[in-house]
Amino acid sequence: MALREVRSGMRVGLGTGSTARHFVDLLGEQVANGFECLCVPTSEVTARQALSLNIPLTDLDTIDRLDVTIDGADEIGPGLALIKGAGGALLREKIVATASDRMLVIADSSKLVETLGRFPLPVEVNRFGLGATRRALELVMLAHGAEDKLQLRNDAAGTAYVTDGGHLILDAFFGRISDPEALSRVLLDIPGVVQHGLFLGLCKRAYVATPDGVRTLDN
Ligand code: A5P
Repeated sequence: MALREVRSGMRVGLGTGSTARHFVDLLGEQVANGFECLCVPTSEVTARQALSLNIPLTDLDTIDRLDVTIDGADEIGPGLALIKGAGGALLREKIVATASDRMLVIADSSKLVETLGRFPLPVEVNRFGLGATRRALELVMLAHGAEDKLQLRNDAAGTAYVTDGGHLILDAFFGRISDPEALSRVLLDIPGVVQHGLFLGLCKRAYVATPDGVRTLDN
C-alpha cells in the first residue's frame, strides 16, 4: 500500500530496517518496469540495496526537499509519535524525514503502543566525552522516571557499534516515556548528544499490518 503513495517523478526518502527493505525491493521492481523516481537513502545499507536494484539515488546536497519518505519504526505511539533507531540509522532517518513533505511509516501491529518507551530509546552520541555524556544522560533518565539502564550498543563482534556518521549509540531503557516532547528537548541540550530516536510530529501516516489486514493511521 505504501507503494501507492509514490507517484512517477517523485523524490523519495528510503528508510532503513527489515520493513523498509521490503519497500525498497518493491520499488526496485517498479523501477525495472520503467517507473521514474529519485531517491535519498537513510543509510549505507539502504544505499547499497537501492544501487543493486538500479534505483536512481541522489543526496540532500543536490536536492533539498523530498516529496515523501517511507520508513519503518520500532514503536508507534499516540499521534504517530515514534521511536526509531534499532538499526542505527536514526540520524540520517530524521534528517531525511524532516526534509520530506510527508513521512509515512510501515510496520506491523506489534509496534503499536499506548505509551512510548517499552523499546529502548537509541541516543546517538559523539565519541568524545562519552563518559560525561553518559552521566548527563543517566541524570536525565532519573529525572524522567526511567525504570532501567543505559547501555552502550555493541555490534555482533562485541565491540562498540559505530553509526554511518561515525558516532556511538547509547540505548536508554525508559520503560515509559510520559512526556516525549520534554524529554526530546533535554536530550538535545546535552552537548555530546548528536540526535535521539524520538520522532515527534514527523510521521503523517502509518500503514500497520494486522491479522485482519492493513490499517491506515493518520495524524
Ligand atoms: C533503523 O535505524 C530503524 O529506525 C528502523 O526503521 C526501525 O528499527 C524499524 O526496523 P524494522 O522494520 O526492521 O523493525
